[in-house]
Amino acid sequence: MKLLVTGGAGFIGSAVVRLAVGRGHSVVNLDALTYAACLDNVASVADSPLYAFEHADIRDRAVLDRIFAAHQPDAVMHLAAESHVDRSIDGPGDFISTNVTGTYELLEAARAYWDAQGRPDSFRFHHISTDEVFGSLGATGQFTEETPYDPRSPYSASKAASDHLVQAWHHTYGLPVVLTNCSNNYGPFHFPEKLIPVIILNALAGKPLPIYGDGSNVRDWLYVEDHADALLLVLTRGAVGRSYNIGGENERSNLELVRTLCAILDDKRPKPQGSYADQITFVTDRPGHDARYAIDPARIRSELGWRPSVTVEEGLARTVDWYLANENWWRPLQARHGVGQRLGVRA
Ligand SMILES: NC(=O)c1ccc[n+]([C@@H]2O[C@H](COP(=O)([O-])OP(=O)(O)OC[C@H]3O[C@@H](n4cnc5c(N)ncnc54)[C@H](O)[C@@H]3O)[C@@H](O)[C@H]2O)c1
Repeated sequence: MKLLVTGGAGFIGSAVVRLAVGRGHSVVNLDALTYAACLDNVASVADSPLYAFEHADIRDRAVLDRIFAAHQPDAVMHLAAESHVDRSIDGPGDFISTNVTGTYELLEAARAYWDAQGRPDSFRFHHISTDEVFGSLGATGQFTEETPYDPRSPYSASKAASDHLVQAWHHTYGLPVVLTNCSNNYGPFHFPEKLIPVIILNALAGKPLPIYGDGSNVRDWLYVEDHADALLLVLTRGAVGRSYNIGGENERSNLELVRTLCAILDDKRPKPQGSYADQITFVTDRPGHDARYAIDPARIRSELGWRPSVTVEEGLARTVDWYLANENWWRPLQARHGVGQRLGVRA
């Protein structure tokens, strides 16, 4: 298959690109190379004859038309987005522009291309989204595909809007779409402004390990390579017009997660004295911080036979090993705008 992957220089998109090329698919990676991108993420496949890169913005319709015509993809996997909730609190405009308007432009370019091809049933527009569109859970319950949308942050509202656009392009124009809503990802190449890399890198640097509020917020963690595997499965076997929730069934409070990371680091890179957990510091909470996310993955499990392959303990240990071995990757990224600063504290 020839795949047009948007956002393939980001965290999850690059995992999709690496896996897809590894499985013999041709991949065109379309990315605007924002602050969150890093082409080193795809260095392992960059020389493959199956790989091509297009430096382009999904908001630029003329460029999208040129790329569709030049590469003639069988499917689009749409991951390009502004993705950091804290940045969406400080500057929601980029989130509306890329996540909503950009998705609209990509849908229109895909529809025009699909029309010009004679509307093949085999074409797919796969929209990759988040469980954050469903809002916040109490102590019990899980998000299913039928859970009503209730986004709470500018980020999740922009992703919810893009999900609705994708469904509308299916219902109105017949575009063959699939959607996925996934829980929090972690693993190699995670940009060093997100919780897990911040904790690992601050720990190693002897800096405070910042925990928002009291650390009781619960997330459902999924190893990024398991997510990429689920995405390729939904792309090739998912039913048109259907959405699939993807989760790791690995719920942890932020405090538990950080304590686990500290224990792994104590084992792999012991401090001369004491534990990395001594560096834990509680900081002002994120405004509107959702209390709990949890995915019910019953649909993707029963219809497509998917389940995660990596437990959270294994995945976190692999992730710590990767950051310990790849300072040349993360060190330069720490100098990028806003990284290492507290963002999103405006109430
Ligand atoms: N990170 C998570 O835990 C998570 C969980 C579920 C869903 N998602 C979704 O998965 C997708 C990828 O997330 P991620 O964490 O890899 O994000 P990321 O921020 O690491 O990467 C986003 C990529 O999109 C590119 N991009 C941004 N704006 C663009 C534009 N206008 N045109 C072209 N490219 C542009 C960036 O350059 C970057 O390479 C997003 O759609 C996100 O909403 C993320």
